[in-house]
Amino acid sequence: MTTSTVAGRRPLIAANWKMNLDHLQAIAFVQKLAWSLKDAKLDYGTVEVAIFPPFTDLRSVQTLIAADKLPLRFGAQDVSAHESGAYTGEIAASFLKALDCEYVIIGHSERRTLHDESDEEIATKVAAAIGHGLIPVLCVGETAEDLEKHGPSAVPVAQLKAALAAVKPGADIVVAYEPVWAIGSGQAATPAQAEQVAAQLRVTLSELLGADSAAATRILYGGSVKASNIAGFMREPNVDGALVGGASLDLTEFSSIVQFQKHVGT
Ligand code: PGA
Repeated sequence: MTTSTVAGRRPLIAANWKMNLDHLQAIAFVQKLAWSLKDAKLDYGTVEVAIFPPFTDLRSVQTLIAADKLPLRFGAQDVSAHESGAYTGEIAASFLKALDCEYVIIGHSERRTLHDESDEEIATKVAAAIGHGLIPVLCVGETAEDLEKHGPSAVPVAQLKAALAAVKPGADIVVAYEPVWAIGSGQAATPAQAEQVAAQLRVTLSELLGADSAAATRILYGGSVKASNIAGFMREPNVDGALVGGASLDLTEFSSIVQFQKHVGT
């Protein structure tokens, strides 16, 4: 049993596919993943597994999971801050809810950097998601430059405060700490670094939403997570799972990450 399970937080292993795998590839992948985890007799009571495919895959993934009653969750990689209207190319939270999405990633560093998403826009997206019954997976994290200038926690904590400005205690959210320097670089944070920031984020959650919400909220680590390093992160008391990018596209690797409990004691 991991420390987070003891604290009552069910670990979450999330696959952020980014712009990879079309809907046909998604169907094949999700089917194989479910078989592989069934073969391994995964106890889903001890770990939640969620897939975040591109928007165009969502309907196929929804249909497959519902038809085969697969114990997998899914969500989108982004959401519009707006309800509806003249926003060409955007996807409303209500549309995601209508597809049975449970989660939505918000504020990923690639959105912040490549699409200039501001803290204010991210806060509006978080509110839109919660307003429609979606659970935001809010990403925060510092760049290498921020780390040098401000230390490890300052930027993620400031991003968290900005994003949750309008969120009320008791709201169901997930926070993903993803140091930008660790994303896709092959250079993951150390478990101690991840724990230090996760602990700080939990203190901030407590200030913003109260002790109960802070204790119930899952904080994930993301950035070059692999089967070979997941156990180290999961041993930390404030790390409740992982947001996995590159390694989530490799079935064997991802399946092994999901089964972290097999190697967490080693
Ligand atoms: P990575 O990506 O696992 O490829 O580093 C993580 C992410 O961007 O969510």
